[in-house]
Amino acid sequence: MSQQPKITVIGSLNMDLTVTSAKRPAAGETILGERFETFPGGKGANQAVAAARLGADVTMIGMVGQDPFGDELMQVLRQEGVKTEHIGRADTSSGVAVIQVVDGDNSITVIPGANFKLMPDYIEEKRDVIQNSEIVLIQLEIPLETVAAAAKCCEEANVPYILNPAPAQPLPYEIINQAAYITPNESEAAILFEDTDKALQEFPDKLVITKGEEGVVYSGGHVAAFPVSAVDTTGAGDTFNAALGLMLASGSPLAEACSYANAAAALQIGSHGAQAGMPTDAEVIAFMRQKEENPL
Ligand code: RIB
Repeated sequence: MSQQPKITVIGSLNMDLTVTSAKRPAAGETILGERFETFPGGKGANQAVAAARLGADVTMIGMVGQDPFGDELMQVLRQEGVKTEHIGRADTSSGVAVIQVVDGDNSITVIPGANFKLMPDYIEEKRDVIQNSEIVLIQLEIPLETVAAAAKCCEEANVPYILNPAPAQPLPYEIINQAAYITPNESEAAILFEDTDKALQEFPDKLVITKGEEGVVYSGGHVAAFPVSAVDTTGAGDTFNAALGLMLASGSPLAEACSYANAAAALQIGSHGAQAGMPTDAEVIAFMRQKEENPL
């Protein structure tokens, strides 16, 4: 990456408490698992780390608690080169996510904690940061009114934002309409839109639906995924969004940006935890070249 696009991420930071097991316990059942690990996570922090590793100049706006998890989450971001001076500290516990990984696929329960103390007036105070960005990445693990304030601020500053509507919830039309891109997966798209095919027509070149192994669709386009076997898919969507944002901020056309983002996500799912496997730009380019020469 020759230039460093300026990306601001507005979103969550969580400590991920991850259990890997051979199956999911049924209600009332106790099973023995294979491993337990804690990883830094949160959709916002994951997108920030992914973008920084790919070469962007990243600032994060968010909120952690005044607890050891908060210290650790901030420290990890700093080590990754993410600017953390706009992350506040609320008088509560940091966000946590309880994650169960089975056969590489995850189920996640998030306890928002400090992430839900990120309020619209805090975004207003950070207007300058938003104005100085080339692209803003937003997700839905912070209060909806804060998402709306961030969207309004981007709109007023004429800065495009990518909305990754995860975890999905019905959204006011303006938030969708103001977004430069909105990137649900298939189940999130079904929550946001009554008819996904119609929505693709209504929001051409804005609605980008990620379909896992089937790649990505948008109105008039399909971009194939890179077939790889997953160790842990936690953070794949975050890596995709960060890579997409980086490429679009660098002026790449949507199809090219999606292909690069698919490659980044394919590399990311080869490791345990959301952030460990996030690739550098050089790794993504080498992987894409190798797949071009040897697609299988
Ligand atoms: O997208 C993955 C992330 O979702 C995890 O890191 C977890 O914290 C939840 O926010």
